[in-house]
Amino acid sequence: MRYIDEIDIKGKTLFIRVDFNVPLDHYRNITDDTRIRAVLPTINHCLEASAKVIVASHLGRPEGKPVEDYSMAPVARRLAYRLHKKVTLAPDCVGPAVDRLKKGMKRGDVLLLENLRFHGEEEKNDPEFARELMKGIDIYVDDAFAVAHRPHASVEAVTHFAPICVAGFLMRDEVHYFHKCLEDPARPLAALIGGAKISSKLTALINLLKHVDKLIVGGAMATTFLKAMGYDVGKSLVDDKLLKVAQDLMATALKKKVKFYLPVDCVVADRMDKRAETKITPVQEVPPDWIIADIGPATVTLFGEALQNAKTIVWNGPMGAFEYDAFSRGTMAMVHKVAESYALTIVGGGDTDVALHKAGEFQKFSYVSTGGGAFLELLEGKKLPGVTALENWAKRNRNAL
Ligand code: 3PG
Ligand code: MG
Repeated sequence: MRYIDEIDIKGKTLFIRVDFNVPLDHYRNITDDTRIRAVLPTINHCLEASAKVIVASHLGRPEGKPVEDYSMAPVARRLAYRLHKKVTLAPDCVGPAVDRLKKGMKRGDVLLLENLRFHGEEEKNDPEFARELMKGIDIYVDDAFAVAHRPHASVEAVTHFAPICVAGFLMRDEVHYFHKCLEDPARPLAALIGGAKISSKLTALINLLKHVDKLIVGGAMATTFLKAMGYDVGKSLVDDKLLKVAQDLMATALKKKVKFYLPVDCVVADRMDKRAETKITPVQEVPPDWIIADIGPATVTLFGEALQNAKTIVWNGPMGAFEYDAFSRGTMAMVHKVAESYALTIVGGGDTDVALHKAGEFQKFSYVSTGGGAFLELLEGKKLPGVTALENWAKRNRNAL
């Protein structure tokens, strides 16, 4: 893969694919702009070289047609604010009006294209659409790690039409840190995995067993393992079809000498509600009609001890239903434990970064991925189409740069 700082971009027209799929509230205010701030180094690098900067992203899932609620307008305003610079929002991402805007650009201008997913061709990886996107473009820059698991036109097909294809700084960091944590880690390497459903993380758990020294499982998915061990987990959600799979996973861990940890106590609730009755019980004593909602204090101590000598920690998924204050203590406590460790700490996927923000510990982690699904696919051992496309371009054009 080639990178943006290896090439001459002075005065060139660049197309930067980013992932500005940011959370919005009911009034379409951006509630977290981490993904916008994460690509500022790449955009500023281009602006310092007086390049013409075209930025493109998807937002939400508008399913191939223009939907006002998914317009990039709020993103354009926030990007302008973060760059301290005027950002022009194009009315579309392809077509004659966009061509005119592209032609009229001066050095140092920033043009944000409208939502790529307003066109169904984006998700179909359509080559004609990709050709349109690359019209008048000198260099394609992929800095959209969070969507690198989608073989979409602006991620994959464009690499067959752009004269030069490179990765941006965010993409480089994401791939680099991931490599450091799973492929070439300082050991012991511990994975802390939580989240709701074991089914959505099964492949990741199986793959992690090939890499880690310790596997620590919390969150709602731990209940499937507890049930598989014969415990009564009350009314907790359990993937009953996966009990055998959970048993096999534990057996594999034992065989591979991977140290495997499960909660020893939990916070149980009589219902999932902020007014619920709650108490702390050992996992052996979950009352029949209650639900496991969080890991308990003894588990926090246990997991903390297990992490103590780790030199690398990778974390994905909360330890309980932390969107409820009453069930957030386990996740918050683990944020502090991991933040205080001397290990290289990498967090990614879903809501885990939200927990770090909530606990005020974001800065203490070595790396927090911007990827949800993309990070999970890396944990699963998959190649990301976005990364492969850049690598293949570099292979095809070995002598081009
Ligand atoms: C994400 O937030 O997961 C990425 O932006 C990809 O979006 P998608 O899951 O809608 O493809
Ligand atoms: Mg997603």
